[in-house]
Amino acid sequence: MLNQTEEIKARIDLVEVIQEYIKLTPAGVNNFRALCPFHNEKTPSMMISKDKQIWHCFGCGEGGDVFTWLQKMEGMDFPEALRVLAKKANIKLEYHQPEMSTKKTKLLDINKQAVEYWHNLLLKDPNAEPVRKYLEGRQLKQETILEWQLGWAKDSWDDLFKYLKSLGYEDKDILDAGIVSQSQKDNKYYDRFRNRLIFPINNHHGQPVGCSARTMSGEDAKYINTPQTQVYNKSYILFGLDKAKQYMKRQDYTILVEGNMDVIAVSQAGTKNVVAVSGTALTLEQIHLLKRYSKNVMIAFDADQAGQRAALRGLDLAWQEGLNVKIIVLKAGKDPDECIKQDKQLWLDSIKGAVNIIDYYFDITLKDLDLTRADHKKKAAAVLLPIIAKLPDAIDRTHYIQKLASFIAVDDKILEDKINSLKTDKKSITVKQSPQPSIQNIDTIKMLTERVLALLLSDIKLLADIEQRLMPEDFYEDAASRIYKELIIQYNKGTFDNNQVNLEELFKTEPELLKRSNVLFLLAGSEFGNLTELAKKRELEQLVDRFKVEGLRVKASKLDEAIKTAEASGDDAKVNNLLNEKDKVNKDINRLLH
Ligand code: UTP
Ligand code: MN
Repeated sequence: MLNQTEEIKARIDLVEVIQEYIKLTPAGVNNFRALCPFHNEKTPSMMISKDKQIWHCFGCGEGGDVFTWLQKMEGMDFPEALRVLAKKANIKLEYHQPEMSTKKTKLLDINKQAVEYWHNLLLKDPNAEPVRKYLEGRQLKQETILEWQLGWAKDSWDDLFKYLKSLGYEDKDILDAGIVSQSQKDNKYYDRFRNRLIFPINNHHGQPVGCSARTMSGEDAKYINTPQTQVYNKSYILFGLDKAKQYMKRQDYTILVEGNMDVIAVSQAGTKNVVAVSGTALTLEQIHLLKRYSKNVMIAFDADQAGQRAALRGLDLAWQEGLNVKIIVLKAGKDPDECIKQDKQLWLDSIKGAVNIIDYYFDITLKDLDLTRADHKKKAAAVLLPIIAKLPDAIDRTHYIQKLASFIAVDDKILEDKINSLKTDKKSITVKQSPQPSIQNIDTIKMLTERVLALLLSDIKLLADIEQRLMPEDFYEDAASRIYKELIIQYNKGTFDNNQVNLEELFKTEPELLKRSNVLFLLAGSEFGNLTELAKKRELEQLVDRFKVEGLRVKASKLDEAIKTAEASGDDAKVNNLLNEKDKVNKDINRLLH
């Protein structure tokens, strides 16, 4: 048998593979040079030979072939790299030696089989006729259905499970692939997705790692997604990236949308450089993935206010990380899919009209203000200056200071001074924070507590997203902690109507708690009543992150005090321990702030 590793190497160009990750500059005939991604350096000491198909860094000594590149760069083991490269080379792996198969690759194989199975059902099963009609109604072409390998899961509790068993996969592996769930009652395995339209989710190599499944029976969970598995981590996934990446690179920008359907419709319309975040705020990992292909991102928003605000949240991070972010305000429809359905030209026009995110902030802020009034001028500055202050680039900062100055007719200098004082304020706050949780901190925690609880009261199902991250003990007051605990209990018992838990009944004998929960309901109705589920999810995720940060800050300031005391008593060992602990807390804070 021909050595498949060699065959793969012969068919793949190392230079092309490496170019997906870093920038190469030609160095002599058929050689390239690059900044080594495996150690810190200012002058490039990594060399790549196109003839020999090897890479080597003369700074840190790392090097190897295309397999080692993927292993180092993506943290893969050899069998994983083998699968990725075999796919790239269009080679079917013929044998499965045990040492060529790890847990991860088993999960990948199972996902692949499932996706093919669902896809076939959608194409051929007589019972899938309504789903085929549905897709026709949504104007998906047959070639699009094939390209995205859309599928349909039967309305059955074990159809897919039985099929995978018949292929020889083990229960535990099928479970760990997220395809089935195990009943707590009888330990039996059940298909997770039933009578649902399947959107396979691929990693950026194009391997299916999970799916997003849309109800076909009007169940109230519109989409169910694969849970976190060893091969599927939603913060690392951008739906459509495997197909879009070449276009993102070529056109040097990415269109970012919210839904899977949007990606497919946008791509079918010919704008193929499109990916989706699939209902979550943009994560740091996703931003890094995006940056690999292009630094320019255009985000499509529906024109309704709540959506705009919600979507803006993940974006601070994006532009602080050096992405150029523009906003596409849709000229029709609530999402790109609907916009295209109405009129493809409106979609193309919407893209043409994309505005820089800071200009967009200007637009939405100034739109409601009367700039002949002094108080409104102050308001404009109060909203926009902190945004401008965050811009990483000094030229950008100056540009927008001038823009704001001319809008509100004051001297640039005044705004510059204000911005500088904003910055020093921030510094002095962090330095001064040591003695005690500041009043500001307490207020923030209070505000975050209220909002988290109110959101959960508005839709108890949101608890699923945060239950693991936020514990009753994380709350700083007993009442909040009690209410949260009750919510968890009721949620898990399933005792709620219309996604709401009845706290009145529960707290009948506890007037303080009853009062508190009524206030929370009020907040829920007034603040969150009109938000979409998606917007709520995002808001909640952000709130929990901030909540955690605030908690850690309190912890940090307590540590500072302890450090001072230990220093005063000359206990060096203790000081050291505390400093280490503080370091950990700071790292956690930084991680969350990203
Ligand atoms: P949308 O509710 O906007 O759905 O959610 P959509 O993509 O427009 O779908 P159609 O057009 O009604 O078929 C946007 C994205 O948020 C995630 C999904 O990834 C979805 O594509 N989402 C939404 C969930 O994960 N769960 C949900 O219950 C709803
Ligand atoms: Mn839609």
